[in-house]
Amino acid sequence: MTFKELIHQRYSCRAYRPEPVEEDKLMQVLEAARLAPTAANRQPFQIIVIHIRGKEQDIQKLYHRDWVLQPPILLCICGIEALAWVRRDGKSYLDADAAIVVDHMTLEAAELGLGTCWIAAFDQTAVRDFLHLPDGVEPLFLLTLGYPNDQAGPKARKPLEQIVRYEHW
Ligand SMILES: Cc1cc2nc3c(=O)[nH]c(=O)nc-3n(C[C@H](O)[C@H](O)[C@H](O)COP(=O)(O)O)c2cc1C
Repeated sequence: MTFKELIHQRYSCRAYRPEPVEEDKLMQVLEAARLAPTAANRQPFQIIVIHIRGKEQDIQKLYHRDWVLQPPILLCICGIEALAWVRRDGKSYLDADAAIVVDHMTLEAAELGLGTCWIAAFDQTAVRDFLHLPDGVEPLFLLTLGYPNDQAGPKARKPLEQIVRYEHW
């Protein structure tokens, strides 16, 4: 699959088949995260692998949509603010770093025939409690991982003319 095909193939999957994800495929997805670039190469993140089966009641409290219980795996991408690169004016690039990590994983998963969906609209307190996160560790994204039971729809995106400017604003 070419990179162009891959970025068209990735979509937010919200329907999954129940079969497990093979360990070697999970490891390839995690390896893609490991290779993601981060500001100043600080790598200020940790990924928690959660096997959903048997934990459905708890996981439903983290995110209210039913489909979050369908895949076998949920990943929680946590940021560690104290490790993040911060620009001189105080802007932290923790969120940007974590987003690149997630993007790498979604693309690797797509190449492996797996579906993913970014989740930011989770209950942060519930996630903190469920995963026993210590102070200084922030859950930034959840990511579902499993075999898709739906297909990509057309990509609803603004045309290039609406998002690109040349030379100045
Ligand atoms: C930072 C971020 C947060 C998102 N949070 C959620 C979410 O909480 N729930 C959800 O169903 N989709 C979520 N999405 C998925 C977006 O809705 C989706 O990427 C967008 O509509 C484009 O569709 P596509 O991923 O299928 O191309 C999120 C995506 C990103 C990048």
